Amino acid sequence: MPSVQAFYTNKTVIVTGAASGIGKALAKVFASYGANLALCDRDGELLVATAEALIEEHNAASVITREMDVADPQAWQSFVNQAYTQFGHIDICINNAGIEGTSAPVWASDFATLERVMAVNFYGVVHGTRSVLPYLIDRPWAAIVNVSSIFGMIGAANAADYCASKFAVRGYTEAFRAELAEIYPHIQIQLVHPGGISTNIARRDNSQSFKRKFLTTAPQKIAEHIALRVMRNQARIVYGNQSGLVHMASRLLPLNWLAKLVGKQMRQLDMQNDYRLDHPGFQVPEKKVDK
Ligand SMILES: NC(=O)c1ccc[n+]([C@@H]2O[C@H](COP(=O)([O-])OP(=O)(O)OC[C@H]3O[C@@H](n4cnc5c(N)ncnc54)[C@H](O)[C@@H]3O)[C@@H](O)[C@H]2O)c1
Repeated sequence: MPSVQAFYTNKTVIVTGAASGIGKALAKVFASYGANLALCDRDGELLVATAEALIEEHNAASVITREMDVADPQAWQSFVNQAYTQFGHIDICINNAGIEGTSAPVWASDFATLERVMAVNFYGVVHGTRSVLPYLIDRPWAAIVNVSSIFGMIGAANAADYCASKFAVRGYTEAFRAELAEIYPHIQIQLVHPGGISTNIARRDNSQSFKRKFLTTAPQKIAEHIALRVMRNQARIVYGNQSGLVHMASRLLPLNWLAKLVGKQMRQLDMQNDYRLDHPGFQVPEKKVDK
């Protein structure tokens, strides 16, 4: 097997959500291996700054950037086309962009947030997968890498919306892998389940205690790990704080034990207000009396 450097040199890699966290670290790692990069993010300014730093650091790294929302299928078509026109081929698409959910229990969550979380975390992955697929058919080797989470393995308290999106990514990707293996086995379909990575994903006030307690692994580490495991075609890439434990527990423990264990961990966080028995989310909005 070639070195990682040799393997990725001149391959074209699409990374979504590349302006921050895991995506930014992936861009850095692939740039250091001599890959061509097509980067997108909804934060255009931060993305350009990321690309400029890469070009400076890696001397003439080939990078294109696109400010876009991964939930927009038209934007995807034109982004993928731009990458193909620029580099002449696309080899890898890492559907990484994602956002946190309400960070509150179901009765304290709003539907608009659930819809947005599904639009970005799940449909963003779907659009990326569908848009890039036709460009990979003629390549000698290619990969679509979809980022789920360890919350795509267990249902964690205060994360029903986020878990729903990450379980969806997992189901979609596993099914797609099974389908494509039959006819185009040269295209690898891979899933990433990060554990707690120290990024900016937890932006809400009520997710700060979770961030401090769990998001501790450096993004650079998971990015290097992903690059290596993509090269080795590992179907499920599990990496980061608590990821090994959660993966094992999700496979071995009965659901009621798992719920207790995860519930206990989450209750240690500072979210008591949402767990009041008289929370408005438990109240009937308008009591109707049948006559
Ligand atoms: N950090 C963790 O502990 C952790 C754990 C499990 C899974 N993940 C997943 O890893 C991925 C990367 O997250 P991160 O931790 O690096 O977060 P991050 O917030 O640091 O980076 C995410 C990037 O995605 C971009 N983005 C968000 N919505 C977008 C959209 N609609 N279109 C385009 N770009 C968009 C953001 O602007 C940001 O630059 C996400 O899918 C996340 O769910 C993270």
